[in-house]
Amino acid sequence: MTEQHSLITALRELQARAESELGAITDLQQLEEWRIRYLGTKGALTMALKDLGTIPKEDRPAAGQTANTAKRTLEAAYDRHLAELRQAALATGLSAEAIDITLPGRRPQLGYSHPVRETLQDIIRIFGSMGFSVAEGPEVEWDRFNFELLNIPEDHPARDTMDTFYVDVPGGIVLRTHTSPVQARVMLSQRPPVRVIAPGRCFRRDQEDASHLSYFWQCEGLAVDRDVTFSDLKGVLASFADQILGCKVRFRPHHFQFTEPSAEFDFSCLVCGGKGCRTCKYEGWLEISGAGMVHPQVLRNMDYDPAVYSGFAFGMGPERITMMRYGISDIRLLNANDMRFLRQFA
Ligand code: PHE
Repeated sequence: MTEQHSLITALRELQARAESELGAITDLQQLEEWRIRYLGTKGALTMALKDLGTIPKEDRPAAGQTANTAKRTLEAAYDRHLAELRQAALATGLSAEAIDITLPGRRPQLGYSHPVRETLQDIIRIFGSMGFSVAEGPEVEWDRFNFELLNIPEDHPARDTMDTFYVDVPGGIVLRTHTSPVQARVMLSQRPPVRVIAPGRCFRRDQEDASHLSYFWQCEGLAVDRDVTFSDLKGVLASFADQILGCKVRFRPHHFQFTEPSAEFDFSCLVCGGKGCRTCKYEGWLEISGAGMVHPQVLRNMDYDPAVYSGFAFGMGPERITMMRYGISDIRLLNANDMRFLRQFA
């Protein structure tokens, strides 16, 4: 046995240094640098192993054993340290993302329908039960549908009653001033019998006040068939008034270009039951909108023969009905989106 070869001493020192450095390592980046430094392909231990071949033959077994022990020990220490660091990183992450279950919860904000929407649903349901289906048309409408086909030619004074937003393009486009253009759209696309309602938003350059909005809802109604009469119109609207608010309906003579004869219709005041009060300005009645028998010229415009077919049409204001229903005195409240007001209908 010769004296212990110096390579053995060097290996032991190397192992000791590596172990003490490892003990001080606190993050994965440092650990990886350590692994490369000692165990990597060009690491200190790997280099020392290469030197084994250069030492005297009799020293090789002892040196080889020392080298193997160092390698196994350092690899095991590395694995343990890696596991510890990963565990620690996980624990830090968990505590940083922890949910504090002692905090008060956030109440879910439940939505609910706007009161006008509720009224529209009721209108659709009631007319639905009388056989009317729902038709729709665009809010940005051709002049032809909004006016011409409804017997309101250009320069006719009837246009003055509907302050219109015109879009300046050839062919004439408007923001529809009423839902009546849907009458034309429906009649041009189908043959009688026709029985539809058409709820939708309308626009007028009106000065807004307690009873006027510049954009508002209407609900149109149209029925065309053989032998449709004014009493059918009255019966349908009387039944509707009774079902939606439990009130009565009255007709007053009026003029519309697209109906003949025409009428405006009122609902009896819910506040006073028709006796007269401040809400109805001591009339006992509140105006809902217009109605009448479809004008023969309008039928002809749709290629319906007025000698065979007749029909009635009506329009109504869902905001007005909503106001009556809840005793709301200013229509602007319905468009203002003030939650203090709207929450009452939750
Ligand atoms: N479109 C008319 C308006 O806005 C109401 C109406 C509809 C009148 C249907 C008669 C028939 O004033």
